[in-house]
Amino acid sequence: MVYEGHTCVCASDEPKKNNEEMRILSGIQPSGKLHVGNYFGMMKPMIENMDRGELYAFIVNFHALTSVQDKEAIQRDTLEAAADFLALGLDPEQCVFWAQSDVPEVTELMWYLSTLTPMGLLERCHSYKDKVAKGIAASHGLFAYPVLMAADILLFQAEIVPVGKDQKQHLEVARDIAIKFNNTFGETFVVPEPQISETLATVPGTDGQKMSKSYGNTIGIFLSQKELKKSVMSIVTDSAPVEDPKDPEKCNLYNIFKLFAPEDRLAEVHDLYVNGGAAYGYLKLELVDILWEYFREAREKREAFIADPGYLREILAKGAIKARDKASKTLELVRERIGMRY
Ligand code: ADP
Ligand code: TRP
Repeated sequence: MVYEGHTCVCASDEPKKNNEEMRILSGIQPSGKLHVGNYFGMMKPMIENMDRGELYAFIVNFHALTSVQDKEAIQRDTLEAAADFLALGLDPEQCVFWAQSDVPEVTELMWYLSTLTPMGLLERCHSYKDKVAKGIAASHGLFAYPVLMAADILLFQAEIVPVGKDQKQHLEVARDIAIKFNNTFGETFVVPEPQISETLATVPGTDGQKMSKSYGNTIGIFLSQKELKKSVMSIVTDSAPVEDPKDPEKCNLYNIFKLFAPEDRLAEVHDLYVNGGAAYGYLKLELVDILWEYFREAREKREAFIADPGYLREILAKGAIKARDKASKTLELVRERIGMRY
């Protein structure tokens, strides 16, 4: 593991020892179907962190309200996000796993943090501007989103926060707020470090831009076979003839293919690109099969979880008890530090 500035850049398959005692925390919004970018950027590193330290994983349904105001959708997506995590291998016995709305302590901390967050810090956040540009209503909640995220992180005294590159600025905001609080009221919060996988920082979408729900360029990981084929076939490639040599790294299809293909097959495909002979249509069909197999086990587990929402609710309720225990301790310390106990 290499620390670059305050970014902890990690190769995802590095040995597990050096993070052993770390508190690691990350959340995901329940606002849509999980895609390959979410999987590599956040879900997979998160699940791999399970035996690297004390892990906190949660579903940020408070955050999701900034873009989804639909009761049924948010309820369904919260349970689906829980099923996604569990199906992909998160073991709720080995970590603290909950839904944000079951731990209301976070909103109290958010208020305290808001009172010392400079407006300028939030005004600089590009995520807010990007979301407004895409048509999301410019609410106070959307503007204050990074403060709620800081509260999520600081409430659990998280040391490491695995996220995709797009969340780096939000982590900087959380760090600035923690430092400001500590300077104002005395050492209280751990200053968190982002964990951003160097190689997987930005997974490309079918059009070569960052894969994102809002660009409509995603490849979902729990699609039906027909939908999966449709997404993969829509990957944009150039119109060079099959026999032409091509630069694999510049090819969007290859860049997605390499995330999943076994090493020996990837070497063969690399040669086809370099020496000529890479037929995009065939490679796409092969990618459909590879993806289908890659997520087969998780897909089957997920179907079973979705069929048993009572079980999912029970897991989240148990997780919330553990999370509230930790949260209330931090919050009580904060209340004392700032003069809310008299
Ligand atoms: P989206 O951009 O589709 O709305 P989210 O903002 O909900 O995705 O992201 C959820 C998590 O997945 C975040 O940690 C984010 O950094 C990560 N993530 C999303 N898209 C990608 C991507 N293309 N590459 C790497 N990580 C990503
Ligand atoms: N903002 C993150 C995203 O859109 C989700 C999030 C909310 C989060 N709170 C967090 C991530 C705390 C890590 C830690 O992906």
